[in-house]
Order: sequence, then structure tokens, then C-alpha cells
Amino acid sequence: MSRKILVLFAHPALQRSRVHKALVAAVHDLEGVTFNDLYELYPDFMVDVDREQTLLREHDLMVLQHPFYWYSSPALMKEWMDLVLEHGFAYGRHGTALVGKTMMVAISAGGRETAYREEGLNHYTIAELLRPVEQTARLCGMSWLPPFVVHGTHLLDDHATAREAEDYRRVLIALRDEAVDPAALTATTASSSERIRSLAST
Ligand SMILES: Cc1cc2nc3c(=O)[nH]c(=O)nc-3n(C[C@H](O)[C@H](O)[C@H](O)COP(=O)(O)O)c2cc1C
Repeated sequence: MSRKILVLFAHPALQRSRVHKALVAAVHDLEGVTFNDLYELYPDFMVDVDREQTLLREHDLMVLQHPFYWYSSPALMKEWMDLVLEHGFAYGRHGTALVGKTMMVAISAGGRETAYREEGLNHYTIAELLRPVEQTARLCGMSWLPPFVVHGTHLLDDHATAREAEDYRRVLIALRDEAVDPAALTATTASSSERIRSLAST
């Protein structure tokens, strides 16, 4: 058994990116992974809803990959959600296309993990800040995985960035190969990003 993974990638300035350039290079050609670069496809924000819904139907696990911008996503990721997750497709009485599928977020954040605590600069954990996306997934009948988070991006040298990219690749391989039961990941007391990282060593 293996899961078909769809990576929905949103970065408005990939040419200036360090972290996502490395993450993308590590996963874009993985077997069983479809890489969907939203800013490349839709620089004018004219999202092809039929195409995107067909892709969603064809995959089991959706990974929303983007830099964390103002505690959220770049604008096109939100536009994609607003247009693609339609009533009658993703939710509502006849909107069952995503039921039983899984969603995960893969983000990079300038802030360190210690900044994303109640006593830290950002007051809230990443898991708390991602609640609107988590609830979006749940409303659509999807399971929600802990996020893959690359913290402290400004502090990462090339070597550390490459290690993050390798972890990301391993996490996607483990998820693709169903080396893990998603329920087990949500049942432990470790922090959410540690839980998904544990897959990199399976
Ligand atoms: C418009 C904008 C908003 C940002 N907002 C946040 C934020 O809310 N929290 C945070 O930790 N980092 C924030 N950052 C930092 C980015 O997340 C960081 O630069 C990015 O993840 C690095 O990845 P890259 O090298 O692929 O661009 C922001 C950066 C920009 C340009």
C-alpha cells in the first residue's frame, strides 16, 4: 500500500528563497509525489478550479508547503482554498470529495521554536496558529497531521538547511509508504513538530 501525495506549494519569490528552494529540490521528483507549484501555475491568481479539484480527487495526502507569512500563508494559498474547496465538492451535503483523505502543512518560519510559546515573542504555538487550516481540513472530512516546521530560517547555514530538506524528504517517504499510522502521531505528548520529525528516522 502507498499513499499518493500532492504537494501544494506557494512561495511568491522562489528565486530569493533559501529554505524552500532546498525543500522543493528534495521532494519534487519523489515517486508517488505530485508537485504543484501554485505561483508558477497561477501568477495572476486565476486558479483553474477544475484542474485543482481533479488533482485533489486523485491523491490521498495533501501537503500545503509554504513560508509562514504573518502567522499564515502567502496570499495565493488562501485564494486556492477559497476557490477550490467549494461547497458541493469539499463540504456540504454532497461535498464529500475529500472525506477520508489527509492534510499536512510544511512551513518555514523566521522565528525559532522558543518564540512560538506562550511566554515567547509570538505567544502562540505554531499548532495553535494553524487551527483555521486544521479545522478547514476537518470540516472537509480529512485527517490532520502534525505540521513539519523549519524554524529559525535566518539562522540556518547551508548545511543545516540541507539537513532540514533531507528530513522533509524522509517524512514524505514514510507517509507515502504508510510506514506510520496517523492516529499514533496525534496520540503522543511530544510537541507537534517533533512528532512529525520522528518519521524522518523510520
Ligand atoms: C511577508 C513576510 C511575512 C513573514 N511573516 C512571518 C511570520 O509571521 N512568522 C515568522 O516566523 N516568519 C515570518 N516571515 C519570515 C519567513 O517565514 C522566512 O523568511 C521564510 O520562511 C524563509 O523561507 P525561504 O528562504 O524559502 O523564503 C515572514 C517573511 C515575509 C517576507
